[in-house]
Amino acid sequence: MAIERTISIVKPDAVGKNVIGKIYDRFESNGLKIVAAKMKHLSRREAEGFYAVHKERPFFGELVDFMISGPVMIQVLEGENAVAKNREIMGATNPANADEGTIRKDFADSVGENAVHGSDSAENAAIEIAYFFAETEICPRTR
Ligand code: PPS
Repeated sequence: MAIERTISIVKPDAVGKNVIGKIYDRFESNGLKIVAAKMKHLSRREAEGFYAVHKERPFFGELVDFMISGPVMIQVLEGENAVAKNREIMGATNPANADEGTIRKDFADSVGENAVHGSDSAENAAIEIAYFFAETEICPRTR
């Protein structure tokens, strides 16, 4: 199976709960490698740009306000089938529907404050990675 990359964001609610390490453990325990990472307090413009695809949705303002309410931890994950694997580890968007043992089941409170973001396709992953990282900031893993 091909090695893929995807974007993961630990959102302000989970950063505030001090569970970045616990979330990273889920990635590493499932064979995903962190090949780039940065903590950032997004500006309104950055958050609006990142979520531009959702700008017509009724919750857009709420989503942007939440994503700028505190720092986020942004990482590039690499591994076999990384996009789908990360989505599986995250669990359903609404934590009420998330499977046992997923990040959102264990750390999220609501559909709005749901602990993590993950790219939904390889195509969007490439766009989202380029939104936050220069190619020189990504460290290919040789072991
Ligand atoms: S998904 O996973 O992309 O199919 O989910 P979707 O329902 O399309 O939601 C897209 C992102 O919007 C967030 N969201 C909300 N934020 C605030 N309030 C409400 N009601 C709400 N509903 C959905 C959801 O967490 C998704 O964020 P990301 O960061 O893309 O996971």
